[in-house]
Amino acid sequence: MKANTLTISVLSGKGGVGKTNIALNLGYCMYRGDFPVMLMDCDLGLANLDVLLGVTPNTNIQSLLDTDIPAEKVAFPIEPDGFDFLPAASGVPELVEMDSELRNALFQRLNPLFNNYEYLLMDLGAGINPTVLSFAAMTRIRVVVVTPEPTSLTDSYALMKVLSTQHNVKDFYIIVNQAEDKTEETSTYNRLATACERFLGFTPEFLGGITQDKMVPESVRKQTPLMKHAPNSKAAKDIFSIAVKLQKIKNSMLNDISKSIFTETANNLSN
Ligand SMILES: Nc1ncnc2c1ncn2[C@@H]1O[C@H](COP(=O)(O)OP(=O)(O)O)[C@@H](O)[C@H]1O
Ligand SMILES: [Mg+2]
Repeated sequence: MKANTLTISVLSGKGGVGKTNIALNLGYCMYRGDFPVMLMDCDLGLANLDVLLGVTPNTNIQSLLDTDIPAEKVAFPIEPDGFDFLPAASGVPELVEMDSELRNALFQRLNPLFNNYEYLLMDLGAGINPTVLSFAAMTRIRVVVVTPEPTSLTDSYALMKVLSTQHNVKDFYIIVNQAEDKTEETSTYNRLATACERFLGFTPEFLGGITQDKMVPESVRKQTPLMKHAPNSKAAKDIFSIAVKLQKIKNSMLNDISKSIFTETANNLSN
């Protein structure tokens, strides 16, 4: 993958917290900001990006493993010129329990395609399935979506714990979705961050909150991304702020890379 493709996984402990809607709409914001985006449906058990978009692709991730179809042919355009998605196959047990050999074969096919994008967003399935964990461990940025429900908090804590113990991954960004107001958003994040700090030894970073907004389910019913259906809604504005923040994070990462190259060059010159 080219050095400046930013890979982001969107994950959660519990299902139904808003991952797919968040991944889709963040992708839409980045695309509108003129950055080519690939959205990969990695919910290999219960794929539903196609339903959210109201499309029926003929090929999917499974086609890449079964045939020698070029990877570009499996990319399905969400918007012309720069916003594509990679459909998953629903209910294929082989994919859900993917071993490392199969995973490597899949990414060998996909990496040249991913080179064409500035952002690769992975919409993962909920929970601590080994495939979910290994996909999350592969990405540069991990976004954990939580809601104020206690079950969402405990499950996302468990997810981060397993990722840190099994994959030595300790950097996470938190999105609090569906809170009623800023106070509930902050208290949800604080509860989670405090538990991580005390028992896991790291503090996940707050990426932002997305308010509970009836325009989200309405956009789902219309099978249209919220950013397109209701760009002025409260939730859309929150998602836009998060996309801006991710862009800043991407820029600072690029800065770090050029800084380290500069240091190397400076060292070489002084030797
Ligand atoms: N900010 C929000 N406000 C209101 N409803 C939301 C919000 N975010 C998600 N939802 C609703 O929650 C449900 C689950 O969302 P989805 O993105 O499919 O979750 P996941 O991918 O985590 O299973 C959807 O019906 C969606 O309309
Ligand atoms: Mg989903």
